[in-house]
Amino acid sequence: MRILLTGGAGFIGSHTAVEMAQNGHEIVILDNYSNSDESVLERLEKIIGSPVIFEEGDIRDYDRLYEVMEKHHIEAVVHFAGLKAVGESCAMPIEYFDNNVAGTVTLLRAMKALNIKKLIFSSSATVYGVPQYLPLDEKHPLSSTNPYGRTKLHIEEILRDVAASDPEWSIVCLRYFNPIGAHASGLIGENPRGIPNNLLPYVARVANGQLKAVQVFGSDYETPDGTGVRDYIHVVDLAYGHVCAVNYSANHQGWVAINLGTGIGYSVLDIIRAYEKACGKPIAYQLVDRRPGDVAANWADPKLAKELLGWEAKLSLQDMCESSWKFQQSC
Ligand code: NAD
Ligand code: WQD
Repeated sequence: MRILLTGGAGFIGSHTAVEMAQNGHEIVILDNYSNSDESVLERLEKIIGSPVIFEEGDIRDYDRLYEVMEKHHIEAVVHFAGLKAVGESCAMPIEYFDNNVAGTVTLLRAMKALNIKKLIFSSSATVYGVPQYLPLDEKHPLSSTNPYGRTKLHIEEILRDVAASDPEWSIVCLRYFNPIGAHASGLIGENPRGIPNNLLPYVARVANGQLKAVQVFGSDYETPDGTGVRDYIHVVDLAYGHVCAVNYSANHQGWVAINLGTGIGYSVLDIIRAYEKACGKPIAYQLVDRRPGDVAANWADPKLAKELLGWEAKLSLQDMCESSWKFQQSC
């Protein structure tokens, strides 16, 4: 299929571009580079081995979206573009609702005008709020604890209404758990601007000497070693999940939400140990207070993805840390 990847220059989008191209899809990337830059183009072309179509543009710009999708005869959209920092969303809720929610509505308007009715949306396990039980399956009640999470919840609801309004729509909301790691080539990965908020990029920068020590947020949780537990998923596995979702959308209509996770929880200390093994040196860390808003543990029930998409995560925690380290050394 000819697929538009909004936000395709970013961390998950760039890995998905590779998997899509390697599985026979034609891709067009649209990005405003607010959290990425054009250098990823060259790296993607090196991995894929052929030219990649990049269009600079903003998902809030209807005319630009219409022009790009019409020009490239787009048949399906994978929608990654959005702002994603929880803390920033509390300080800038208007920008988050504008970019994520209004941007998605603008995208839907342009898709509808062009009769493009297949959409895969980047949702998040954040829509489960504070876990009432584990593992988290798709029937778990939804809630949100911050504006970022609310943008994902609102978008999921909007998409559900859109699918209900017209049986031709096929909409898959993929609820990602904690994507980490990098492409095996070491050419693309996650390299956030400034001091990283998320664990893995922080650990990677301690490993390469850019930061001094990992602050481990909380060591008194009711978890096996007292530190927070999450379902870390290799970004390449996650990317392949989008290929399966696009293939699914080719012969299924309606709205569905599907978890993409491994079903395994690792603690912060597990991550530090695995990274030490990957980079061959000790990672300094300090146990500090809990980070406000964090939950003790969450991990996915990934059964629905297997059932509907035929997808399951294959790569190990060691693969995640080794690929991250390979990428980090090239930054
Ligand atoms: P990212 O910031 O690396 O990628 C997002 C891309 O979208 C960037 O290249 C950015 O420049 C672009 N973008 C942002 N606003 C745009 C706009 N208005 N118009 C055009 N392009 C725009 O983030 P990521 O980690 O690759 O996340 C991709 C998606 O997955 C996001 O929607 C995010 O909320 C969601 N998600 C991410 C995680 C995670 O932990 N990384 C977890 C769950 C869900
Ligand atoms: C993981 C664990 C921290 C940093 C966030 C978003 C979520 C989703 C994924 C988009 C926790 C601990 C972290 C550090 C630490 N994104 N930690 N020291 O919070 O599970 O999820 O990213 O949808 O919405 O909330 O990920 O990587 O920030 O934290 O000890 O410097 O690492 O307390 O237990 P989180 P994270």
